[in-house]
Amino acid sequence: MSAPVRNAAAGAGALPTLAAARARGTPIVMLTAYDFPTARIAQAAGVDVVLVGDSAANVVLGYTSTREISVDELLVLTRAARRGVDSVPLVGDLPFGSYEPSDEVAVATARRFVDEAGCDAVKLEGAGEILPRVRAIIAAGIPVVGHVGLLPQSVVTADGYRAQGREADDALRIIADGVALEAEGCAALIVEAVPAAVASLLTARVSIPVIGIGAGAGCSGQVLVLHDMLGITRGKLPRFVRDFMSESASVEHALRRYVAAVKDGSFPVESIHTY
Ligand code: KIV
Repeated sequence: MSAPVRNAAAGAGALPTLAAARARGTPIVMLTAYDFPTARIAQAAGVDVVLVGDSAANVVLGYTSTREISVDELLVLTRAARRGVDSVPLVGDLPFGSYEPSDEVAVATARRFVDEAGCDAVKLEGAGEILPRVRAIIAAGIPVVGHVGLLPQSVVTADGYRAQGREADDALRIIADGVALEAEGCAALIVEAVPAAVASLLTARVSIPVIGIGAGAGCSGQVLVLHDMLGITRGKLPRFVRDFMSESASVEHALRRYVAAVKDGSFPVESIHTY
């Protein structure tokens, strides 16, 4: 049963530019950024929404897992990114351990990202037992972006970074999770590392924007990790990443090429970047 939409922070209207883009059928471009200069360049390059992801743990701070970054560390980076972004929404990522324990903890953490770092919305991973946390944050007036599919905060060994939803029951669960998050009032969803058909079905089942990473071209938009698409991430890149820097004259040029490729549908390519 669908929960009623509770307040102004709920539903697609909470991030109106993204909702409008989905309604028009214009692909949404999201990119991570973790500091002032790259957030500023992302906005100048035409990115529609900037995410200060907890991927900062790996790509900025050199940890081996997103589970290692703290709220205080992520808030420093989020505040810096906020200084570079004034005309597109900024989404903050609630790190591992900062929202799971209780609704009160979840709301208090989300509030820090809004009050101390100026976020327009927060993102948290999962559905199921996380749904009450999502509900509580939205009831507190803070827009939420949900995250389904591969959930990096749940990965405990290196071989855990695997595509999700390859079996029918898992695919159906991911779609049901996305539908449940929309019913709670999420403003948008991220779907990570699932077969393109699963992400397309999820996108068709909900009316909020669905932004994919490693999830094919059938979503409402795409997100990449900045350092991945600049080719400066340690180790082997996931198959869904394209290095936009290798043929670019500057970081801004690389970001403009990414924006153009998502908008014109030339990224992602089904045979290369999709499970
Ligand atoms: O932390 C992050 O950068 C993310 C994206 C991969 C969506 O969650």
